[in-house]
Amino acid sequence: MILFIDACARKGSRSRELAEAALSYISEEDPEVEKVCLYDCDLKPLTENMIEARNDALNKNDYSGEIFNLSRQFAGADIIIMAVPYWDLSFPAILKLYLEAVSVNGVTFTYDDKGVPHGMCKATKLYYVTTAGGEIGNNNYGYEYVKALTRGLFGVADTKCIRAVGLDMENVDARRVLENAKSQLRDILLC
Ligand SMILES: Cc1cc2nc3c(=O)[nH]c(=O)nc-3n(C[C@H](O)[C@H](O)[C@H](O)COP(=O)(O)O)c2cc1C
Repeated sequence: MILFIDACARKGSRSRELAEAALSYISEEDPEVEKVCLYDCDLKPLTENMIEARNDALNKNDYSGEIFNLSRQFAGADIIIMAVPYWDLSFPAILKLYLEAVSVNGVTFTYDDKGVPHGMCKATKLYYVTTAGGEIGNNNYGYEYVKALTRGLFGVADTKCIRAVGLDMENVDARRVLENAKSQLRDILLC
């Protein structure tokens, strides 16, 4: 199953458009796709009560509750595509709320007796697809964080950032940049 995570706020989002183009190639091999639109998920910052409810369930080894739905879905995906606009050198806050919901000890990762974390996610590949108004350069903090979390904790072996930049800059033909990025997808996805 391919999990498509949509963290895009705008109807005409270019990050979503680029990510959908990537999905169309990837789903040629695996047509089973689940889409999660984060703005429709009623995500909330974790409160003390929510953490306690989570811990109560985890202490009983009961991962069946609705509060773990997003986490179980993430852990079970074969390939993950994230559509994420570049905001304030990072990503929209809604993605952090999603990652807090997904990051569950016993579902997406676990610790062994020595306290060493082990990933529990099935996915071997995660594509982080983003567009930016200006340059990203080395300030790709959103992707770097997602990479650290999903590789280091969740055990996703390979992550890749696909980007189209400069879309809001004067004298830049944003449509052309985007179409150019789309035309390079097949090569990027195959390597
Ligand atoms: C809240 C907000 C923050 C942004 N922050 C940045 C930024 O830090 N650097 C940048 O180059 N562009 C920034 N932009 C511009 C977006 O990265 C750019 O318009 C991007 O293509 C938006 O993606 P979308 O078309 O998927 O919505 C920001 C836009 C918004 C709305």
